This record gives sequence, C-alpha cells and structure tokens, in this order.
Amino acid sequence: MTDSIRIAVIGVGNMGSAHAQCIASGQVEGLTLAAVCDIQESRLQWCAERFPDVPRFINWHELLTSGTADAILIATPHPLHAEIAAAALRAGLHVLSEKPVDISVFRAREAVRAAEETGKTYAIMLNQRTNPLFRKARELVQTGVLGELKRSVWIITNWYRTQAYYDSSAWRATWAGEGGGVLLNQAPHNLDLWQWICGMPVSLRAQCDVARYHRIAVEDDATLFARYTNGATGLFVTSTGEYPGTNRLEISGTRGKLVLENGKMKLWWLVQDEDEVRFTSKESLAHIPVGEEEILPEGEETAHRGILQNFANHILHGEPLIAPGADGLNELSISNAAYLSAWKDGTEVGIPFDEEEFDRLLREKAAAEGKTVGQDHHDVKGEYSERWQVRW
Ligand SMILES: NC(=O)c1ccc[n+]([C@@H]2O[C@H](COP(=O)([O-])OP(=O)(O)OC[C@H]3O[C@@H](n4cnc5c(N)ncnc54)[C@H](O)[C@@H]3O)[C@@H](O)[C@H]2O)c1
Repeated sequence: MTDSIRIAVIGVGNMGSAHAQCIASGQVEGLTLAAVCDIQESRLQWCAERFPDVPRFINWHELLTSGTADAILIATPHPLHAEIAAAALRAGLHVLSEKPVDISVFRAREAVRAAEETGKTYAIMLNQRTNPLFRKARELVQTGVLGELKRSVWIITNWYRTQAYYDSSAWRATWAGEGGGVLLNQAPHNLDLWQWICGMPVSLRAQCDVARYHRIAVEDDATLFARYTNGATGLFVTSTGEYPGTNRLEISGTRGKLVLENGKMKLWWLVQDEDEVRFTSKESLAHIPVGEEEILPEGEETAHRGILQNFANHILHGEPLIAPGADGLNELSISNAAYLSAWKDGTEVGIPFDEEEFDRLLREKAAAEGKTVGQDHHDVKGEYSERWQVRW
C-alpha cells in the first residue's frame, strides 16, 4: 500500500483554497495536493501562483478521468456536492465532501449508494465533531448518564453574517445556488451535533423566516420544534441576524442535565431517577439530591485539519471515520424536513418524509429564481477562518 494519497481539490474558493493550502504545506500526513479544479480562471491563477507544479483543471469531469488523483475534496457550492461525489466514487476515487452532503436527501442518497457499492471512502467535513466538549457530551448522553432524554434546547444564534457576506458570491442565499439559508450553510454543523448527541427526531415543525434581516431569497432565522420516539422534545433556534448571539445547548433527562455554554460544560446528576421519585415520594415538592460538576474540554479541537488527517488515516490505516458520508444524511434530513414544514405552514413533518416530494418542491423554488452562478472573489485568504470553528 502507498503511504500517500494524491488528493485534488474541486472548488478553490474560500474553503477549498484553505484546504489546498493546508495540504500543500504538508500539514496532513499522508495527503499530497495532486490537482486543483475551478470554473473561474482567476481562482486557477491564484493556484498557479501558490502551487505552480500542481495540475489545474477547469472541468471536474476531466479531472476525475485524468488519473492525477486517488481522492477528491469537494468545496464547490452545495448543489454540486452529491453529483460530483457519486461520479468520483464510481470512477474509483475516495471522496471527502464539504458539508452539507447536498441540498436534498433524495439527491444525496445517490452518493451514499455509490460509496456502498464501490467500497470507496466517502466522508464529510463536519469539523465541529472534533470539538472535545461535544464529544464528551455525546459520550455522557449515550452511556446513559442523563437517563432517558426528556428535552434538548439549542440556541445557536451567533452565526452573524452581514449583507456583504451574502453579496460576496451570486450562489449564496438562493434556493438554486445554495439550497437554503442558515439551515443549509451555517447550522449544518449544529444540526449534525444535535442528532449525533441526542439522536434523530421522528418529526418536527418549523418556522423559517425568509429575509428577516437581510436582502436574500432564503431564511436567515429558523426555529425547529422536534419530537423523539420516546416522547422527548427538542427546540433548535438559529439565526444569522443576531449579535452577539448565543451558543447554548441544554439537554435534560430523567437522571440530570447538561449545559454547554461559554466553552464549558456543566453536568447536574441526580442520585435517583426522577421518574421513580415522582410516584414514590410522599412530599409534593420532593428534593432529589443533585451532584454538580464542571467539565472543561480535554484535548484540542483539531477542526478541518483533523478531519483531513482522519480521512487519510482511514484510507491508509483503517482508522474509523469521524464523519462518514452516510451520517451527512441525518442533519440534511432535519433541515429538509424543516423546509417542508415551513412550506406547509408549519405542519408537523415525519422523519423520514417524502424525499422525492421535497426535491421536487425545492427544484420548483430554484427554477422560479433562475440559475445562479459563482462570481469572482476579492478576499480569498487561503487559510482557515476562526469563524469556521466552534464559537461560544
Ligand atoms: N466546514 C466549514 O467550516 C466550512 C466553512 C465555509 C464553507 N464551507 C463549505 O465549503 C463549500 C464552499 O464554500 P465557499 O465559502 O468556499 O464558497 P466559494 O464561493 O468561496 O467557493 C466555491 C468555489 O467553487 C467554484 N465552483 C463553482 N462551480 C464549480 C464547478 N462546477 N467546478 C469547479 N469549481 C466550481 C467557484 O468558482 C468557487 O471558487 C460550501 O459547501 C460551504 O458550505 C465549509
């Protein structure tokens, strides 16, 4: 087996250029930058100046059959993700895709199928999974420390963006170009962590406010009310129009609760399950002894570089993937269901829902807008921005 994977980056804008720079500067053991691809000449020129020896492609189909790469990293606008991923997997390449897996679960399933059928690696850049506090919260919930879950509430409103951000590229904030707003671009990380820690809801209702704070065609503020199999409820609130905003996750169960905020986690644990006390106590306001513990993060958030390293380690050494491609279907199911609910005046939508119907409705919205294409950038830095890591 080779000790290095030749990886090509498709879409060398804000994110792709940072990934390309990270790989080209040798920060990921086992990955070498083999090619870059973008439809914009100016982006290829940028690459030519920084990576003069790396082959450049303007057409991703040609890249896939060129034999220059063993793997690709997709960092294009969202509607291309699953199409490129499926084609690359079927061409025998491994795939690491930026989030989300696509804009509709219906389309994304083809990429997941391609990975299953070819046995090639398919992973998603859900970099916030590398945050040690979220990993710890998942462990505590999944090992039953909180007992049976009753409720989760995530207020994640510190994804502030200005109009200049939305105007920076024509694909942004349109149904055709981006597939949605804050739920499709910023909140996928949190929707993923929410389901990774608490499990998938079985239904939800949503209010998605289009253009509440910005001149855009999609939602910049959303509130989701979810239900789980055991009757537990969940509330998820997100926005790009609040400042300073909040990042606070509270999870409560029959044996206690967890609160993650300000980069710390606090755990309250009951010595006895509340479900038992409710019916056995003779007092009307029983006091159940509660232990408290503050938990600080152990280890670092390795973020994007960590996911790149994990991708290489998985292919070369069989390390389990932090975020397999199929996992990307979960957070996308939540946001697709939220749109479906919002488009049906807030009616409750079961999960799974009619994925084909959602895809058709989304296409209708996109068609009504016309085609949006990318446009030139002025401020691509070629490095990871702090705002892409977990912010408290
Ligand atoms: N994981 C994270 O923290 C994070 C952060 C920012 C962005 N992203 C994701 O990265 C992806 C790209 O976002 P961005 O901010 O870099 O956008 P961007 O507009 O800066 O870059 C997209 C690039 O793709 C190119 N492109 C468009 N169509 C193409 C095609 N057919 N073939 C090849 N290239 C094509 C564009 O020309 C552009 O250079 C999105 O999926 C976004 O959600 C992830």
